Amino acid sequence: MAKNILITGANGQLGNELQVLFSQYQDFIFFATDVDTLNLCNKKEITDFIEQNEIHYIVNCAAYTAVDKAEDEMELCYKINRDAVRNLAEAAQGKAKIIHISTDYVFDGKATVPYKETDTTHPQSVYGKSKEEGEIVLLEQAPESIIIRTAWLYSLFGNNFVKTMIRLGKERTSLNVVNDQMGTPTYAADLAKAILDIIVFSENTQILASGIYHYSNAGITTWFGFTEKIFQLSNIKNCQLNPIPTSEYPTKAARPAYSVLDKTKIKETFPVAVPEWENSLEKMLLKL
Ligand SMILES: NC(=O)c1ccc[n+]([C@@H]2O[C@H](COP(=O)([O-])OP(=O)(O)OC[C@H]3O[C@@H](n4cnc5c(N)ncnc54)[C@H](OP(=O)(O)O)[C@@H]3O)[C@@H](O)[C@H]2O)c1
Repeated sequence: MAKNILITGANGQLGNELQVLFSQYQDFIFFATDVDTLNLCNKKEITDFIEQNEIHYIVNCAAYTAVDKAEDEMELCYKINRDAVRNLAEAAQGKAKIIHISTDYVFDGKATVPYKETDTTHPQSVYGKSKEEGEIVLLEQAPESIIIRTAWLYSLFGNNFVKTMIRLGKERTSLNVVNDQMGTPTYAADLAKAILDIIVFSENTQILASGIYHYSNAGITTWFGFTEKIFQLSNIKNCQLNPIPTSEYPTKAARPAYSVLDKTKIKETFPVAVPEWENSLEKMLLKL
């Protein structure tokens, strides 16, 4: 019997990339929802939806992701990133398994080697704290869940760093970009495929290896390095790129200076691909 998968926040970057893949995963029936069709702040709505549609898996892509705005909209941010996750966990209990997405911003960025799942979290922003609390309530309410922390997501959909840099590169003659925050860009299409491959593997083995996992593309760069590559691959030549320190680009929310994620655990547990970030960027730009 085909298994039913609910995608929440399906109109976001990751949700849309999952939708692109639906036709390649014919063994599943997908239910793509967003706040207008399934508001995660309403527990009854979720409970009814799971029951009526006999949902087996939930991929929670819904989130409050406006990192700087969150500093002023703390209540709303917690409502979506923590309280809605609790709603989902309670509604899913005994019925559906949850795959939830979290972030590298749960770390303080003081590390010098890639973060492992067991490293201590210490978020520096409202967004990071709300996501950390989302992880905690999920593992309390539904310990059989999977949490995937990812980083620096971009996709064909919505607004993201890649699209913004291409626009600015065409509009401006010079651009300053931060060169002292290290991380790994992640093409949301790669993460979407990894999530669905984890579900396929779990179905085949009848084991959902619960817990926290790290997933991003492979490699390390800075926002400046990322932009250089975007410009090179997009043939943007008339905009001078200048590397600057974070201190010259103040933002409302603090970002970790280093947030490279160690992907060993996810690669050893599941048959997922972790492509190099440059290769995935090239693929995305060809489609853009
Ligand atoms: N973007 C990144 O760089 C990044 C990095 C690391 C981790 N992550 C995590 O990865 C996941 C996916 O991120 P993303 O970039 O795809 O996010 P996104 O593009 O902002 O999408 C989130 C979606 O959730 C929806 N949503 C908000 N409140 C909701 C509610 N109450 N009920 C149902 N849906 C609701 C949003 O709708 P509205 O747009 O109408 O609010 C939006 O469509 C998130 O958990 C995020 O924290 C993202």
